[in-house]
Amino acid sequence: MQLGFSFTLLLASLILSLSSGVQAAPTRRNAGLVTLPLKRIHQLRDDIRPALQLQQHINRGLKRHARMTRRDAPSEHQLRENIAKRMFIPEAGRPGSRTKRYNRQGVPKPNAVSAVTVNNAKAKGKGGKAGKAAKGAAAGAAAGAAGAAAAGAAAAAGNATANTGAGFSKVALAAQQAGGLTAANNPTTGNSLGLDIEANDVGYIATVQMGTPPRDFKLLMDSGSADLWVGAEQCQDVDTGANCGNHVFLGSQSSSSFVDTNKAFQVTYGSGAVAGDIITDNINVAGLALNKHTFGVATQESDQFANNQTQFDGLMGLAQSTLSEQKTLTPVESLAQQGLIQDAITSYKISRLQDQKNDGEITFGGLDATKFDAQSLVTFANVNTQGFWEGNLAAVTVDGQDAGLQGRTAILDTGTTLIIAPPSDAAAVHSLISGAKSDGQGGFTIPCTTTASVALTFGGQSFAIDTRDLLFSPVDPNNLTGDCISGISSGQVGGATEWLVGDVFLKNAYFSTDVTKNQISLAKLV
Ligand SMILES: *[C@@H]1O[C@H](CO)[C@@H](O)[C@H](O)[C@H]1NC(C)=O
Ligand SMILES: *[C@@H]1O[C@H](CO)[C@@H](O)[C@H](O)[C@H]1NC(C)=O
Ligand SMILES: *[C@@H]1O[C@H](CO)[C@@H](O)[C@H](O)[C@H]1NC(C)=O
Repeated sequence: MQLGFSFTLLLASLILSLSSGVQAAPTRRNAGLVTLPLKRIHQLRDDIRPALQLQQHINRGLKRHARMTRRDAPSEHQLRENIAKRMFIPEAGRPGSRTKRYNRQGVPKPNAVSAVTVNNAKAKGKGGKAGKAAKGAAAGAAAGAAGAAAAGAAAAAGNATANTGAGFSKVALAAQQAGGLTAANNPTTGNSLGLDIEANDVGYIATVQMGTPPRDFKLLMDSGSADLWVGAEQCQDVDTGANCGNHVFLGSQSSSSFVDTNKAFQVTYGSGAVAGDIITDNINVAGLALNKHTFGVATQESDQFANNQTQFDGLMGLAQSTLSEQKTLTPVESLAQQGLIQDAITSYKISRLQDQKNDGEITFGGLDATKFDAQSLVTFANVNTQGFWEGNLAAVTVDGQDAGLQGRTAILDTGTTLIIAPPSDAAAVHSLISGAKSDGQGGFTIPCTTTASVALTFGGQSFAIDTRDLLFSPVDPNNLTGDCISGISSGQVGGATEWLVGDVFLKNAYFSTDVTKNQISLAKLV
C-alpha cells in the first residue's frame, strides 16, 4: 500500500509536469490526482468485503462528481478515511467479526460455477489469471450456495427474474466475487456493438478494432468522459513499476499505420489516471472505419487500469469533445463529421447480468428502435455547459410517493456504477424505504428483500429502477435475505441539487445522447 502510494505521487508529479504541455482541461487540476490504494482490493478479489467495494464505488463517484461540477474533490485523507471506516463496519451483525468468509483451500469444486458466465478465464486465460478467476467464481458460487441453503427463503434468490423481495441474486453475487466479463450477444442492428458486462454490472465494455493489421481492443464505454485511449506498447503500471499486464497494446511495432504526434495527454478519472502520447491510427467502430483518427496511447497507467483483473484495454469517452483532454473529436463526432453516420448520436442499452439476456448494445448514429417502447421516448435538453450529459431531474418517488425533491439535475454516466445523491436527498429517498438505515458514512443499507420501487422523472416521464438494482451487494454474502447495501449513496461534493446517476439507473432505460442537438433521450425498455 505504501509502495502504491509513492508511485501514485510519482504519477501525480509526472502528470503535473506533462500538463504544462497540455491545454488546461475543463476539470480542476487539483481535483483528481489522488488515487486510492485499491490494489489490495484487487488482490483480495475473491475475499472482497462488499462494504469496501461499495466505498470504492462511492469514492470513485465522489471524485467524478467533483470534477464534473468543478468542485474540489474530497481530500485524499477523507477518501482514505472513508475506506478505513468501511473496514470496521461489522458484517453479518457480528461486531468485530473479521473471520474469512471463504475457505479458499477447502472449497469443494462447485458445480454452481456454471450459474454465471465467467468468460474471464477463457478470454484472458494466460498464466495464473485463469485459475484465480475460476477460484473467485468458485468461492462466490459456493458462498451463494451456502447462503441459500442456510437461509431457506433464499432458495429462490438466484433466479434472474426474482423481483419480488426474494433477496439478493446468487448470480449477481457470484459475478461480483469473480469479476470477469460476460460477453454480449452479437448486435442485430447496424452501427452497433455488443456491450459486455463487467462483473455484476460495474462497467460496460465493447470491442473495437485498431491499427494495421486491425486487432481487437476492449474498451469501457463511458458517457462521462471524452477521451479515447488504449495502452501503449511500452505501457508501465505506475503503481507497481511493472508493465501493464495482460492487455492488448497499440504502437508502431504492432501497427504499420500508427503515427505519434509527439504531443502528450493525461486523463484522471474517479479511479485511476493515465498519461501518454497523442497518436493517429486507423480504428474501426462497429464496421465504420475512421482512418487516421486522433486518440491516445497510455505509456503510464495507474494500477486500476493496468492490472490483470481489469477487463478492458482502454476507454472510449462519449461525452462531448469540449471535455477532451486530447482536444480532439470523440469517435462518434468524427463519424458524423465524415458523414459515416447522420448525427453524432450514441445510444446505450445496458443489460443486467442477472437477467442473463446479454443483450447490451451501443449504437452509433441513431437509436435502436427494437430496444425500447417508442411511446415512452422522451427527449430533453442537456443542461450541462461543459460537455457532460446532464438533465433536469423533476421528481424522485418511492412506490409512487414523492420524496419532495424539486429543481434537481442529474449527470447520466455509464462509467459510474452507483447513484450518488446529495446527502439530504439520499436520506429523503431512504426514509421512504421500509427498513433502510444510514451507515453514517454516506452509504445506506436496505433489506435485501425490499420491494421498494424508486423512480426518477426526466422529460415528464417517470423511470422506475428495478428493485434488484437497488441492491448493490449483500452485507453478509452468506445471508442473501439480510441487509443489502443500497445502490443509492450520498456525497457532499456535488452541491445541494446535483445527482450523479450511473448504471443502477441506466440499466432501466434506453439512453441516447445527441451532440449536434445537445440533447438527451430516455425511453422505457421493452
Ligand atoms: C429458477 O428458475 C429455473 C428456470 O426457470 C427454475 O427451473 C427453478 O425452479 C427456479 N428456482 C427457484 C428456486 O425458483
Ligand atoms: C499479468 O499477466 C501477464 C500475462 O499473462 C503475466 O505475465 C503477469 O505475470 C501477470 N501479472 C500479475 C501481477 O499476475
Ligand atoms: C439474515 O438476515 C435476516 C435479517 O437481518 C435475519 O432475520 C436472518 O436471521 C438472517 N439469516 C441468517 C441465516 O443469518
